[in-house]
Amino acid sequence: MTTTRPSGRQFPADFLWGSATAAYQVEGAAQEDGRGPSIWDTFSHTPGKTLGGDTGDVAVDHYHRVAEDVAIMRDLGLQAYRFSVSWPRVQPTGSGEFNQAGLDFYSRLVDELIAAGIKPVVTLYHWDLPQALEDEGGWTNRRTAYLFAEYGRRLAEVLGDRVHLWTTLNEPWCSAYLGYASGVHAPGVTDEVAALRAVHHLNLGHGLAARAIKDVLGQDTPVSVTLNLHVTRAASDAPEDLEAKRRIETIGNEVFLGPMLEGAYPAELFTDTASITDWSFVEDGDLETIRVPLEVLGVNYYSTNRVKHGHFLTGDGEPGPDGHRLSSRTPWVGADDVEFVAQPGPHTAMGWNIEPQGLVDLLLELHTRYPGLPLAITENGAAFVDEVGEDGRVHDQDRVDYLHDHLDAVAAAIEAGADVRGYFVWSLFDNFEWAYGYDRRFGVVRVDYDTLERTPKDSARWYAQVVRTSTVLDAQVAAGL
Ligand code: FCB
Repeated sequence: MTTTRPSGRQFPADFLWGSATAAYQVEGAAQEDGRGPSIWDTFSHTPGKTLGGDTGDVAVDHYHRVAEDVAIMRDLGLQAYRFSVSWPRVQPTGSGEFNQAGLDFYSRLVDELIAAGIKPVVTLYHWDLPQALEDEGGWTNRRTAYLFAEYGRRLAEVLGDRVHLWTTLNEPWCSAYLGYASGVHAPGVTDEVAALRAVHHLNLGHGLAARAIKDVLGQDTPVSVTLNLHVTRAASDAPEDLEAKRRIETIGNEVFLGPMLEGAYPAELFTDTASITDWSFVEDGDLETIRVPLEVLGVNYYSTNRVKHGHFLTGDGEPGPDGHRLSSRTPWVGADDVEFVAQPGPHTAMGWNIEPQGLVDLLLELHTRYPGLPLAITENGAAFVDEVGEDGRVHDQDRVDYLHDHLDAVAAAIEAGADVRGYFVWSLFDNFEWAYGYDRRFGVVRVDYDTLERTPKDSARWYAQVVRTSTVLDAQVAAGL
């Protein structure tokens, strides 16, 4: 691709620049120091679930290479590191005894980051539920929400005020709908009722955990949640296409924004899903619990959707590894009559369309709707087919262009009034991209999967200069860095 947006826009001086990873995608050491199995261990070890049968057993061995990895971030001048805690590493069965070795690992990581001048941004849940809890129903079981809060409380006690920003959940949309409806993610369940129960218990878990953290560390403690809000366009202005867009927004976005930020599920949600469930699993007081004043709303953004009235086509929106469809089930519960229309290019190696304007629109819409709520881009980035050049470097101009255009989008949204406080590139490293295994590379730092050697790509060098200057530099300068 080439850039489509201008260079030169500046960011506020106190804008926070970081990179992001998630435990199961980078840590490895899956059976070390008392870590229990998670649903992703089980899922990735089940034949046919991931491309090439890849697992996170070794991943990029971040667990053993924390010192080296923090040094890489420091050398790039990064100011913050968004990582997730593996629940089964610190509490092997998700209830009862905590594992001191696991708690110590994250405590050391936090100390190393702070010593390097990097702010720790901690996500409690990036999809790796302890398998023992899944055996009891996982997120379909209300008890999981309460256990999640206990785990959050313990983390707050151990890591304390060394953490710059806490995040309860990463993309509960994926946990609920890819995990329990389409089944392309762990635990691989395909049951619409289960997915909606999971939605509610994730919401409840968010509220309970946010309260637990603030209970331990004080009400002003910065707490956030990260959502993958779906920027959805209607294919036409026909009422049925606008209704298709509305349904996707309700089941994809409002189902989380409503309870977490406004204290209610939208009425349409209940009518849209009336043939599936009566939502009687929502108990008195839950909505009060779920709505907690947040210090930041985390936004993960990659691409956009276009929809019309029609029929959900097998595997729409979720092409599986190797081009075959992983699931014939829609993740869009209650929206079988919505068709996803192919988007014009360019596309990334995930097949996701590249539309930076969607990020401007999303940020401004959120700002208008929640004026007092600061925003942060907690993930943005792209998979491309990288090649190592004869000079040993990765000239990933496509990725530089993608980052350039999306950073310009963020800067433009800020200029237009959006209160965006930070940006975290996904990802610091190439890593285990869930069902796609190691096949899709999102890193700004390349990982050689034979030697585990790390090599900053041109995108990392370019991003480092952006961080240093707080300016959207010309994408072409990367080649010369
Ligand atoms: C997001 C996930 C993250 C990564 C990117 C590409 O949905 O939060 O772990 O897989 O997509």
